Amino acid sequence: MFKANGNYLKLPGDYLFSTVASKIQGYCEANPEAAGRIVRLGIGDVTQPLAPAIVEALHSAVDEMAAVETFHGYAPDLGYDFLRQAIAQHDYAVRGADIAPDEVFVSDGAKSDSANIQEIFSADARIAVCDPVYPVYVDSNVMAGRTGVFDATTGLWSNVVYMPCTRENDFAPALPSPDADISIIYLCFPNNPTGAVIDKERLQAWVDYANEHGAVIIYDAAYEAYITNPALPHSIYECEGARTCAIEIRSFSKNAGFTGTRLGYTVVPRDLKDADGVSMHDLWARRHGTKFNGTPYIVQRAGMAVYSEQGARQTGEQIAFYRENARIILEGLRAAGYEVSGGANAPYIWLKTPDGMTSWDFFDLLLAEVQVVGTPGSGFGPSGEGYFRLTAFGSRESALEAVSRIKGL
Ligand code: MLT
Repeated sequence: MFKANGNYLKLPGDYLFSTVASKIQGYCEANPEAAGRIVRLGIGDVTQPLAPAIVEALHSAVDEMAAVETFHGYAPDLGYDFLRQAIAQHDYAVRGADIAPDEVFVSDGAKSDSANIQEIFSADARIAVCDPVYPVYVDSNVMAGRTGVFDATTGLWSNVVYMPCTRENDFAPALPSPDADISIIYLCFPNNPTGAVIDKERLQAWVDYANEHGAVIIYDAAYEAYITNPALPHSIYECEGARTCAIEIRSFSKNAGFTGTRLGYTVVPRDLKDADGVSMHDLWARRHGTKFNGTPYIVQRAGMAVYSEQGARQTGEQIAFYRENARIILEGLRAAGYEVSGGANAPYIWLKTPDGMTSWDFFDLLLAEVQVVGTPGSGFGPSGEGYFRLTAFGSRESALEAVSRIKGL
């Protein structure tokens, strides 16, 4: 009789956002009269429609697909040159970061890349993650059998190094001890879920640590478009030495509304080599070649429009809109006496639950009493217990309404 992959059976519970979705569904079934009142600030899904320049690019790419002369079949597995060049120029060269177009791997989004990237590292590589953390980094390593045994009491895996992010360290982790024997360090800034940021000096310290200790940093920069403070780095490649120790993952979801259209990319520099000199760039290319048939032409054309003058202006307006939502939520809840952070250079607001409530109790309370949905901090890791995440990606009405209802609790 066949056997399932036992690593999957080690995963405790469902994927966080699936649990949240089924809780909402259960509530709606039990309270159909209240279902229409729900304000959804849980999963970080955008709500503004695609910008006109992007829609125009999509339409014209669809027209190309309709004529034999301009039809496109399989996309190149690593991405069309036009997009890889635009990314290297607009996301890196302008910031003084030295990234070649052929070091950019276009994909169907940052979530799949951040889950899949672990495949090119050895099965016994030890990972370090922030706590709280975007659950995909840990779950994908559980599936690969890398994380050891789960302790249901502590919520920790035996073979994962957790780097607590607390109010005491401003939600940015300290460097691990030099003998921590870590191979892969996951960092995400601006951070999901806490909305914390890192300045260039501190990011440089991580790069220096990784180079010194033979570790690789998987740097998730999906929220870089929300940075307004000029002192904050948008890319890890703004730091010296990052080409030999860092992989960067980016998304078109949060800066250009592609959550439903799917587009992202990963940068693997040619200088990133393992202990035996193996090129991680070549391994990732090999993986793409075998497992991926390329992001659709029409989607890559749409992505290209993000870099046009009009596209940049229009998506910039959308980002400003979400930033204003973040400000409304942050300042509104602060004025109401809540302890809140994030939300300034990030689209997530991190809220301390009142009266020592657990994250899930606060989730249940908000849903039952005021029909506001957020994400329980403990779903992101043990150090998230007692916290709650709200997203700025809703409509203006939902940001205002959520604040006013939570104030009235
Ligand atoms: C989140 O809510 O954390 C994000 O939307 C998840 C994602 O981008 O996959």
